[in-house]
Amino acid sequence: MKVGIFDSGLGGLTVLKALVEVAEGVEFFYLGDTARVPYGIRSEETVKRYSLECSLFLKEFDIDLLVIACNTASAKAGDFLRKRFPSLDIYDVIEPAVETVAKLKTTKVGVIGTPSTVGSNVYKKKLLRKKPHIKVFQKATPLLVPLVEEGLLSGPVVDAVLNHYLSEWKNQIDTLLLGCTHYPLLEERIKELFPNWSVVNSARPLARKLAPHLKKKGSNKIHLFFTDKTAFLKNMLKATFNKVESFEIVSLKPTEEVKF
Ligand code: DGL
Repeated sequence: MKVGIFDSGLGGLTVLKALVEVAEGVEFFYLGDTARVPYGIRSEETVKRYSLECSLFLKEFDIDLLVIACNTASAKAGDFLRKRFPSLDIYDVIEPAVETVAKLKTTKVGVIGTPSTVGSNVYKKKLLRKKPHIKVFQKATPLLVPLVEEGLLSGPVVDAVLNHYLSEWKNQIDTLLLGCTHYPLLEERIKELFPNWSVVNSARPLARKLAPHLKKKGSNKIHLFFTDKTAFLKNMLKATFNKVESFEIVSLKPTEEVKF
C-alpha cells in the first residue's frame, strides 16, 4: 500500500510519524513544500495551486491514499482536491481532531491555527455542529510556524510567544486544539506552561482513524521529498525517524489550473 502525504513544510512530519507508528507494510511518500512555507498567510487560490502541485507530484507514485497533513491546505483546498481527484481516497487533519474534542467533557475550547485556518472558521463551525452548547475561542498564532521551521522549540523566545498568544485564555478554556500540524512540536512546552488544559493535536486522531487501513504485511518504508533544504530539516529528521528509504530535494511542476 502506498500513502502520499503533504504539508507546507516540516509540520506534517508530526502526522507522518503518528501514521508510521500505527502502520505495517506501508510505503509512505512525504512531500514538504519547504521552499514556499508558510501557506497560512496566503490567498485561497495560492493555497489551492500549491496543494494541487503537491498532490500531482505525489500521484506520480501511484498512491492509494492521500493525506493532507496541513490544516491550512485541508481548510482551503480539501474540497477542491476531492473534486479534482474523485477516485483518490483523501483524508485531512481537521475532522479527526474535531471528533476527538467532541468526545471530551469540554465546555470551553480554544483553537489556534494559521490566519488562513482560523479565518475559515472551519474548526469553530464543525465543533459547534457537534457540540452546540460549548464555547469556542479562536486565535491566529502565525509566529509559531517560523519558530518550528527554525527548530526553536524551547527557551525564552518560545515562552514569550506562547504566553503572548495564550495567557489570556489561562482561565477561559479547558481544552486547546492545535489546529496546525507544526504546533505538536511545541506541545510539551504548552502543557508545561498551561498544565490545566487538555491539549489535542490532529496527528494522533488521524492515525487512530486510519490505523485499520494501514495494517499490511512487512515493514514500512519512508520516502521524503522537500522543495528546499532548510536549516532545521536534517536535525528534525534525525530526531523523528531512525531510518528513511530515500531523501530528495525536488522541484514541483507548476500548474495553471487555478485562476485568480
Ligand atoms: N502546517 C501548516 C498547517 O497545519 C501550517 C504552516 C503554514 O502556514 O504553512 O496549517
